[in-house]
Amino acid sequence: MASLVGAFAASHGPLIIREWERVPPEQKKRMAAAYKELGRRLTAAKPDVLIVVSPDHWSNFFLDNYPAVCIGVGAVNDGPPEPWMKDFPHRTLAGDAAFASHLVDEALRQGFEPAVSHHLKLDHGSCIPLWRMELDRLPKIVPMLLNSIEPPMPSLDRCYRWGELLRKAIESYREPLRVAILGTGGLSHSIGEKTMGAIYEDFDQETIRLFGGAQDGLIRYLDEKLPTHGNGSEEVRNWLVAHGAAGGRGFELVDYLPVPTVIVGCGFAAWRIQAHN
Ligand SMILES: [Fe+2]
Repeated sequence: MASLVGAFAASHGPLIIREWERVPPEQKKRMAAAYKELGRRLTAAKPDVLIVVSPDHWSNFFLDNYPAVCIGVGAVNDGPPEPWMKDFPHRTLAGDAAFASHLVDEALRQGFEPAVSHHLKLDHGSCIPLWRMELDRLPKIVPMLLNSIEPPMPSLDRCYRWGELLRKAIESYREPLRVAILGTGGLSHSIGEKTMGAIYEDFDQETIRLFGGAQDGLIRYLDEKLPTHGNGSEEVRNWLVAHGAAGGRGFELVDYLPVPTVIVGCGFAAWRIQAHN
């Protein structure tokens, strides 16, 4: 049977690549170290497959057609289309068609209805963390594109439930796969709105604190605060998927720092994976 061997989360703001050289050295050092620490832990978990939960930033979908959730079931997906991601070391990323199709089947059986794609472009949302984690070799990547950037979006509770569902689906897969999950995006940032560039450190710190407690309190807080704390903060949904997969337990902050140069409250987290009770 397959098992969940790791759950992680990391920010992915475009300026983490585009403005990297302008980030003050101390902050750059901390960010680089945090990404590498996630990479070290991911490598130590020896995953065969990594489910990457990220929004699509208009690389596959647009306002006229944006699914709440789309799972990539292709044997291969394309690397990032953004010109400024051209140095990302993978033009294609191998998928796992059989396992991804199992996730879709299980989701449908449980009353969840993802869209399905046989060939996706994995943009900076998926690829910046993979790049900065400096992995020697990539596991197979199963993309889960979750709309966390454009209303209407899936509810926060639904995102947490998606995580729970993924855990069940992983554990019902007959092959002995080792599977990890990476939620990307957040924490607070504001893109293309009046508050563009704002970082809400208090919101980020409270969100981080609440990840250590019961998910009800976390979701209540986010439901109340997200509408006024930057549209990019909505990407915390992808962290909730990882949190749900981990059973709402075992959250560990690897680092957090607000980085004005990249206009993101940069967060890095891992979950200690525990067996079910
Ligand atoms: Fe994003």
